[in-house]
Amino acid sequence: MQVYVPQEDSFLLEEEIKKEDLNGKKCLDLGIGSGIQAKAMFFSNAQKVFCVDINPKALLFVQKKLVNFYGKFVLIESDLFSSLGKEKFDFIAFNPPYLPSKEIKWKDLDGGKKGREIIDKFLSQFKKHLNANAIVLLLISSLNNDKEIISFLEKKGFVVEVVASKKLFFEELFVLRIKS
Ligand SMILES: C[S@@+](CC[C@H](N)C(=O)[O-])C[C@H]1O[C@@H](n2cnc3c(N)ncnc32)[C@H](O)[C@@H]1O
Repeated sequence: MQVYVPQEDSFLLEEEIKKEDLNGKKCLDLGIGSGIQAKAMFFSNAQKVFCVDINPKALLFVQKKLVNFYGKFVLIESDLFSSLGKEKFDFIAFNPPYLPSKEIKWKDLDGGKKGREIIDKFLSQFKKHLNANAIVLLLISSLNNDKEIISFLEKKGFVVEVVASKKLFFEELFVLRIKS
């Protein structure tokens, strides 16, 4: 499994993280890949950034880059929240693998049926890891049925705003800003 090289989805999410004031906030970069989102959190003044990925290579890659910033970052190999115990966060960003696929072979890209397998697991787990007034930025694609995801979150009582979008040739990307 290789480390995900930042693409359009990464840059769209990164721009939204840069707009957040994360001063004093405990943050989670879920699916860290190259570390692009964790770096944006750091420059938005995050107090601490938990860097999580299922891919040990991503954690090794990021560890080398962050060597001068120990104390700010916590690196954890985990399948979503499974190794995070009862940790709660003020801010979570997730750029999930969202491409529809028959099976999940490439964990950085393959999202299974409708590209929703990892997204749906995240949606069923993230609430109990939120502090009061937490913000979640979630990247999704029109391939995932964006309206259904937004409606699901709204029915759960979250306030959802589409803060960024980008049309690509076979899909449109969206960044959802989710507030409890
Ligand atoms: C689309 S890449 C995004 C990487 C990076 N955050 C970015 O924006 O460029 C998805 C990342 O999620 C990781 N990932 C996939 N499934 C995961 C899971 N179940 N738990 C944690 N990380 C996962 C992949 O290894 C990959 O690094």
